[in-house]
Amino acid sequence: MSTEALRKSRLFEGTGIAGLRLKNRIVRAATFEKLADENGAVTPELLDLYGELAEGGSGLIITGGALVHPTGRTLRQMVSAHADSFSGGLKRLADTVHEAGGLVALQLTHGGRHCPLKVINFETPLAPSEVHDTSTDTTPRAMTDAEVWEMVDAFASAAFRGRAAGFDAVELHAAHGYLVSSFLSPRTNLRDDYWGGDEERRSHFSEEILKSIRQEVGRDFSVIVKLNAEDHMPGGIAPEEAARIAWKMELAGADAIEVTGGTRESDPPTLRKKIQGDGPEGYYRSAGRLFKQKLTVPVILTGGFRTRAAMEDALVAGEADLIGLSRPLICEPDLPRLFFDCAESSDCTSCNKCARFSRIDSVRCLESF
Ligand SMILES: Cc1cc2nc3c(=O)[nH]c(=O)nc-3n(C[C@H](O)[C@H](O)[C@H](O)COP(=O)(O)O)c2cc1C
Repeated sequence: MSTEALRKSRLFEGTGIAGLRLKNRIVRAATFEKLADENGAVTPELLDLYGELAEGGSGLIITGGALVHPTGRTLRQMVSAHADSFSGGLKRLADTVHEAGGLVALQLTHGGRHCPLKVINFETPLAPSEVHDTSTDTTPRAMTDAEVWEMVDAFASAAFRGRAAGFDAVELHAAHGYLVSSFLSPRTNLRDDYWGGDEERRSHFSEEILKSIRQEVGRDFSVIVKLNAEDHMPGGIAPEEAARIAWKMELAGADAIEVTGGTRESDPPTLRKKIQGDGPEGYYRSAGRLFKQKLTVPVILTGGFRTRAAMEDALVAGEADLIGLSRPLICEPDLPRLFFDCAESSDCTSCNKCARFSRIDSVRCLESF
């Protein structure tokens, strides 16, 4: 393909998420960096990384999951957004991205039943129901009604802090088996009250969070929701139901839906290996098609994209409006620029060494040097 043709490609067309104008369709999917300090404050190293990512040319950068409540920590050195004391650092992060010409969304998260005991001071993890978690070998505690409402407020307050700090959008992390996702899933939500019992009631937690976020940030601020198309667990969420839930999220105020899948307990996992070679690229493409048929808001499709051709293909085939990349941008933060300059493929081998959190001091590529 000629340079001219590449530059005319779908991937490099401008696009929008509500009022937000993106220069291209490449999104840095949320990626925990292990670079905040022990309390969750933004550090100079984190600012350097975000400067590099913004200069690398992604249309939108989504931060690693930022904590909305101290009970929701899954890893040490996660960014925090659960108190005003973190606002100064969050503002510096948003400013750094803007100064380098980028846009940035703050991802809001609570780890729920996936929180390891030693990371949450040996308190029992919170969940909709007491379903044993094999990833931590712990049985969580079912939240009371008052605790669920407290968490709705915690997500909304963190979104308010994000907007006040200058972020261009927030993303609600409602995927990967974490707290919001565990309320959506029939496998982990066994309640019979306002928060669970059938699909409609399992969706209430996410819907109430979205409504409260809207009250805090207003209509003219972009709100994205990251959802599992499939839990890959017996009795978990499957694509048809996920697409219906996505539609409910759109009605509740979501401006875009990011499609992903898997949990910390699932097989296949969220981070699949062997993508180039024997495995298929873009492993949620068929789910993306289903979501696109149901929704009017843009779909960000994340999971296993490595080559420019597969990304273009998914966009042209009506499976996505934007492409989310995590591991490829750990490997090459400037990959969007490289693609723009005719590169065909990421160097990422999907070895997952970057995600061995307990063995590395910060998230970085350990393979492709
Ligand atoms: C090191 C690492 C950290 C991640 N942290 C987050 C996170 O904080 N929030 C989230 O929603 N997904 C997180 N993910 C998952 C990615 O956003 C993405 O869904 C997944 O890696 C598949 O995309 P990929 O094939 O482009 O890597 C992380 C992935 C990696 C490799």
